[in-house]
Amino acid sequence: MDPKKQTAVIVIIAVIATAGIVAGISYFVFSAPSEKEADVLDIYHWWTSGGEAAAVGALVDVFENLYPDTTVKQSAVAGGSGTTMIPIITALVLAGEAPDAFQMHAGYEGIAYYEAGLLENINDIWADNNLEAVIPDVVQSMSQFGGDYYMVPVNIHRSNVVWYNLPELTAIAVDPKTIDTWTEFFAACAAFELANPGKDAISLGESWTQAHLFEQILAGQGIDVYELWINGDITSATDPDLLAALDILTEFMSYTNSDFNSLSWDAATDLIIQGDSIFNVMGDWANGEFLVATSVYDTDYGTIAVPGTNDMYGLVVDAFQHPAGVAHPTNSERWLEVVASKAGQDAFNPLKGSISARNDSNLALYGPYHAWTGADFTSVMYMFPSVVHGSGAPQSFSSELSSVINAFTTGAATKSATATAIANLASDNAADYTTVWALD
Ligand code: GAL
Repeated sequence: MDPKKQTAVIVIIAVIATAGIVAGISYFVFSAPSEKEADVLDIYHWWTSGGEAAAVGALVDVFENLYPDTTVKQSAVAGGSGTTMIPIITALVLAGEAPDAFQMHAGYEGIAYYEAGLLENINDIWADNNLEAVIPDVVQSMSQFGGDYYMVPVNIHRSNVVWYNLPELTAIAVDPKTIDTWTEFFAACAAFELANPGKDAISLGESWTQAHLFEQILAGQGIDVYELWINGDITSATDPDLLAALDILTEFMSYTNSDFNSLSWDAATDLIIQGDSIFNVMGDWANGEFLVATSVYDTDYGTIAVPGTNDMYGLVVDAFQHPAGVAHPTNSERWLEVVASKAGQDAFNPLKGSISARNDSNLALYGPYHAWTGADFTSVMYMFPSVVHGSGAPQSFSSELSSVINAFTTGAATKSATATAIANLASDNAADYTTVWALD
């Protein structure tokens, strides 16, 4: 071939090849996302027990009925109270790899994401869905950072609940509804253990459930004590209310199973369902386990408020948010709208044990446990946000509390060392307390 023609052919081939590569790259970059926006919703949660899985399944069903072309990818990370999932999701969010939405407690738990600019402001979702008209003020403020909305609540759980096995209590002639004080509570424990040699009156689970228990005991010392605590104002190791709470915890521990550190919260609930123990202190996600076991409220099991907290409602609020830069932003928003909707909440909460975060729920869909706690929600004098479940105090405080309490329950730390550790946690992290709670 004539060398001039040969050069021309090479140039033409090079131009075609370059154009092809550029076209290919631009197709890849601009036209072919790896997953089509409309098709996928990617969410994380830690709802893996029987009752929890049933509840989130019902919520996902509501979403899928509305958006049948969308596949919901659930990453369910086992570990009650988010103990395993929270570090995983924190790493993902801070690396800019957040899923489209994830389970998070309302209040302090999300503040680090907000401060890093990693949450989208969702004021428009609140306004478009008229949420301020149906969600209680206390939950509205727990859903905000800096006066703007950054999450929607899916429920309101109650933390200060004692679950009991009714036939076993009847067998020892104790009417649980008459138990108001720790003295009466421990008298029933002693009577049960006397009548059932070898059994433990109280079932208790792993580390975070012990911190949950401590929080309820402290609330039972009075709303003013609890308020000081979550505002970071109990900073003395000789605080009499703190020491009194630890004394109650000591007596409580003398009636529990000894393998508590290796039991999940739902395994501890199961000991009540089976009648192996009579009492368990747990948030009302436990009701989901009784429902799965087909136990009947006020026949097989029942509930009272933790002694000293009759007039109080411990708040645990699960929420979802719209992280910045997610792969499927439209589906993220659709999910938040379903989570906040009456249909979504009325599918989820009857199975979950929580009440709806909305005041317009269809009560006919809820069972007798909900009738008891729902009536309390509207009549109690005080609401108190949970520290152990992410809302009431900074993460720097709450993330350390479980190991401090666990050292006490296992006998590794004395009462005074534990009181010192709790007081120091508040003073050492004083700068992180950005909310001043007024609970009474
Ligand atoms: C709580 C959460 C509840 C329930 C519980 C046990 O922190 O708010 O929804 O899942 O943990 O896993």
